[in-house]
Amino acid sequence: MSDAEDSAPSETPIAALTPRKAKAEHKLLAAEVQAANDAYFQDDQPIMDDAAYDAKRRRLVALEEAFPALKQESDVSAKVGARPSGKFAKIRHRVPMLSLDNAFSDEAVAEFAARVYRFLGRKEEEGGIAFTAEPKIDGLSLSLRYEKGELVAAATRGDGEEGEDVTLNARTISEIPGRLAGPDVPEIAEVRGEVYLGHADFAGINERQREKGLPEFANPRNAAAGSLRQLDVSVTAARPLRFFAYAWGEMPVLPAPTQFGVVEAFRRWGFRTNPLMKRCESVAELIAQYRLIESQRATLGYDIDGVVYKVDDLALQARLGFVSRAPRWAIAHKFPAELATTVLEAIDIQVGRTGALSPVARLKPVTVGGVVVTNATLHNEDYIRGFDSKGLPIRDGTDIRIGDTVTVKRAGDVIPRVEAVDLAKRPADSKPYEFPTLCPACGSHATRELNPRSGKEDAIRRCTGGLICPAQTVERLKHFVSRDALDIDGLGDKQIEFFHSDPELPVREPADIFTLAKRDAANLKKLKDKEGFGAVSARKLFDAIEDRRSPPLNRFIFGLGIRHIGETTARLLARHYGSFEALRAAGIAAADEASPERQELDAIDSVGPTVVEALIAFFGEPHNEELLDRLLVQVSPQPLEAVAAASPVAGKIVVFTGALERMTRDEAKAMAERLGAKVAGSVSSKTDLLVAGPGAGSKLKDAAKHGVEVIDEAGWFDLVGAGAAG
Ligand code: IVH
Repeated sequence: MSDAEDSAPSETPIAALTPRKAKAEHKLLAAEVQAANDAYFQDDQPIMDDAAYDAKRRRLVALEEAFPALKQESDVSAKVGARPSGKFAKIRHRVPMLSLDNAFSDEAVAEFAARVYRFLGRKEEEGGIAFTAEPKIDGLSLSLRYEKGELVAAATRGDGEEGEDVTLNARTISEIPGRLAGPDVPEIAEVRGEVYLGHADFAGINERQREKGLPEFANPRNAAAGSLRQLDVSVTAARPLRFFAYAWGEMPVLPAPTQFGVVEAFRRWGFRTNPLMKRCESVAELIAQYRLIESQRATLGYDIDGVVYKVDDLALQARLGFVSRAPRWAIAHKFPAELATTVLEAIDIQVGRTGALSPVARLKPVTVGGVVVTNATLHNEDYIRGFDSKGLPIRDGTDIRIGDTVTVKRAGDVIPRVEAVDLAKRPADSKPYEFPTLCPACGSHATRELNPRSGKEDAIRRCTGGLICPAQTVERLKHFVSRDALDIDGLGDKQIEFFHSDPELPVREPADIFTLAKRDAANLKKLKDKEGFGAVSARKLFDAIEDRRSPPLNRFIFGLGIRHIGETTARLLARHYGSFEALRAAGIAAADEASPERQELDAIDSVGPTVVEALIAFFGEPHNEELLDRLLVQVSPQPLEAVAAASPVAGKIVVFTGALERMTRDEAKAMAERLGAKVAGSVSSKTDLLVAGPGAGSKLKDAAKHGVEVIDEAGWFDLVGAGAAG
């Protein structure tokens, strides 16, 4: 959050420092620079920008020059990091860059194939749907835009909607053609794939880092990311980055009707494509290809972390579409997790946004699959005691204690977890861990709720302090501004923590964020003069906040952090209710079980009783009402853009019943939602349209009773147009 002008860590002239003061400042600075190096080189997650980093390093070196004895204290000053900058221009992806769902077992792969068949209404026994199998490259994805065959833009994935403009960097990569060759190169072609580094090149880069006394990269993926995201393009050019093409974004005319065919075209146009990609006719063939790729993993010369399967036929891909951020037509079959042994040094309890007390293992640092792990999850108190969620023993009932030698498991990007205990190495004086029953943040009682339906104790112990618990309010604020919610640039976890405890500019609830600039102007002690801020960064922050006064409704709903309401449900509610006022009125009225609002809420497809109860509880809490009143003075959530404004069913409530022939029920629902309709499970007076196939029963009667229009499947296709099927 610092700028060049204000990032000097201390105002005191060096000459005025006593050796003791110099030593103290040196210690602090060395730790900060070390942390920044680790964040950048080990985690590929910079925690400060270039200017702040440089200022801190300059001060560190100046201190050591004035007080040479300090050089013995730490060696960080000798390491000069060449860091990428966070100042790339943004590029909005015309077609979002999605992620993939994961499968961790052969069974999960079989389920994926079964889902595909089911969704398409085909019988798996009859076969006929082909898939491709190819290595999942462990690099970073890049979207390359070609117009008339010329490379015009390159963007990183970013949040999937918007990435960083790395066009100049991409042009230095020899495996990325600057111009595409071939008669079938379309006018517009966005080719996507993975930038990565080979093992030998990665070792070479780290050797040079070492020679220059610079910090080393933790793994090839981080090194590739650090090499691509460089404002100084000559740094990228000096790194032997490579590229495999395997997907595409905007491409109005495709060179082939299959996944395999398009990738073959990429090769003709001048890209490298993976030689291990294979077209398979069955799950057995997919698994065989997985085993083959796994057996070659060690000798490939680059990192892969699994095998990606995709439905080959692009027309079927279009029918399958997406759920949330991942396609229904693809899955990543990940390689098994990696294990390492280390010592559990402490157990910390973190308090989450909903008051959940989560135990975190602090470990003696250990490398698991190329990444240094110092924290791992312990799930909950039963897990520590040696029991699973059903009360059955795990690890033969062995508990986990501080001081134990434990096995840590890391599977892909999943948070590492403590998996097993080596009892032979347990210290003689160790004691069972006592899980706190008081919240470590506010001292309130922490209890395990009884689940009214199962009658069982919840696995999670929760702080009962609610709004008086500072940990919960801070976490809620962090969630509110996070990337998938309001996404306020420059307002991250650290800044929220800062403002939450700042006496002049306190932020205790979401509305406070939007009054920051005004309160700052009225204050004597300005933000720009505070540690870590400057005139530029303060201005930028206020602008970024201003920019979010009209957030998309779905992000706003998600940002409220209502229990059980994730991104998908938030979007569903935003579409269904159209405005926050409508959702709020429904949430309040639905407390009455007999109300029409409750019936409407119950009838929304994909909204189960847990969500309904969570909404009612949220809107029934007077404090939340007050908080919302204050917030809605500041922000105006915007209805979602109509999915297809021109669609004849946009905004309509549709119910499907009976047998459908041209599409499965899931497919019908997905299509209707894509066209902006809301799909309900039962017919009420609010229903606009009933699509009834053969065998329809009681819903037809309900439709007659409420005067709802009824059409058949052919009528549906006439209404929405055949093109809608895509
Ligand atoms: S296909 C719509 N194929 O994995 C799906 N992704 O977990 C587009 N990745 O962001 C992705 N190798 O960076 C695909 N052969 C491959 C891949 C691959 C690596 C990465 C990609 C993506 C991530 C999703």
